[in-house]
Amino acid sequence: MTSSHAFWLAGRQVSGEDSFDVTSPWDGRVVGKVSVPTDAQIEEAVAAAYAVRDDFAATPAHARAAALDHVSRRLVERTEEIARLISAENGKPMKWARGEVGRAVSVFRFAAEEARRFNGGEAQRLDTDLGGQGRLALTRRFPKGVVLGIAPFNFPLNLCAHKIAPAIAAGVPIILKPAPATPLSGLVIGELLAETELLAGSWSILPVPNDKMPALVQDERLPVISFTGSEKVGYAIMDSVPRKHCTLELGGNGAAVVLGDYASDADLDWAATRIATFSNYQGGQSCISVQRVIADASVYDRLLPRIVAAVEAQVTGDPGDDATDVGPLVSEDAAKRVETWVDEAVAAGAKLLTGGKRDGASYAPTVLTDVPADTTLACEEVFGPVLTVQRVDGEAAAFAAVNDSKYGLQAGVFTHDLQTAFRAHRALEVGGVVIGDVPSYRADQMPYGGAKQSGVGREGVRFAMDDYTYERVLVLTGLSL
Ligand code: SIN
Repeated sequence: MTSSHAFWLAGRQVSGEDSFDVTSPWDGRVVGKVSVPTDAQIEEAVAAAYAVRDDFAATPAHARAAALDHVSRRLVERTEEIARLISAENGKPMKWARGEVGRAVSVFRFAAEEARRFNGGEAQRLDTDLGGQGRLALTRRFPKGVVLGIAPFNFPLNLCAHKIAPAIAAGVPIILKPAPATPLSGLVIGELLAETELLAGSWSILPVPNDKMPALVQDERLPVISFTGSEKVGYAIMDSVPRKHCTLELGGNGAAVVLGDYASDADLDWAATRIATFSNYQGGQSCISVQRVIADASVYDRLLPRIVAAVEAQVTGDPGDDATDVGPLVSEDAAKRVETWVDEAVAAGAKLLTGGKRDGASYAPTVLTDVPADTTLACEEVFGPVLTVQRVDGEAAAFAAVNDSKYGLQAGVFTHDLQTAFRAHRALEVGGVVIGDVPSYRADQMPYGGAKQSGVGREGVRFAMDDYTYERVLVLTGLSL
């Protein structure tokens, strides 16, 4: 599959002067050639978005909802083809790529639903004091301004959807930049949006090279930045524009806690299977993949062999093959970094129970125990198919171990106990706690985002719409309330 792709400038398909190749991390073949926007074209897209911002905010809800519903339906129709594209450019196994398209279908559908109910307004009586007699406050939300969305490579379709669908739903123009390694899936969204009647200028999808991003980030016509990616880049962006509204979805080193009440054979089989699957899905390249297992001492010895067996049962290989569970990482460099971190941990005393081998961009599903706390592997986000298992004594120690991290995105707690669930919700310093499953569970309508160094703000369709807008109060006077 090789094709040439123009980008989307103010709703039109346009080519620049230069282009770059997008290659498959699995076999290095060229998957597509992508045109790069010139400086003048980037300026044209920004100027167009800025110019239509008031008109787009005033577009009726039914028009925006219809466009979003259209994209959702078209994604269903083109699922197989788009999943193949995701798999080809990202190396994601087909089973996960199909799942990603299904999630993007939902994101656009949720956005259509939210567009219909958003901004109905909230009325508040003000005659609670003498000075407010006859007065009513009506609060509605209005765009903060044009959004600059910056998407990562690991969910090249759905994390673009999470930027662009809420913008359209809220009537906010957006300039979307897909990741340089995986721009093709994001550009497909442009094909579907171009089939709608959305206002020209309200959306652009531009594969802007990273070295041209600082100027775009500084552009005052783009007061909102929604970034998903690495901690380093995210905070560098935020620090460079302290007066802009930045939403940062950054890293995590997701923990799955298995407590002492989760002890039957069926419980441990379920926990081990889920942990093995979600430490390896997308080659571990998800911010909420399971990186750390924290197991109570009473179940540890029965859980650990189950995890190792379930990890070894993961089918590795060609991402285009339906049977494959784990494909390559996004690049050979990414796999080499994972290899270095694991090798360092082993040299420092960690025990390698399975995996630990690299072949090109592929890294074998890996399980370690006894990882010293000061190793890079223990402290940083590995973003690879690597799992560490730690034994603790009791719930309090388990929760303390989860919190012993600079990150706080999501945590999973395997327990049957409702009181424990509520204690976990209170104690864990994360954006989301999942009971009875791994931290990797994400439904696209939920608020999603981190505590601590995992980021700032929330995505999840309605939450992103709130993020792109602000409350403005209308005070009405002289009313008979
Ligand atoms: C992420 O890696 O932050 C996104 C995870 C997801 O959407 O499932």
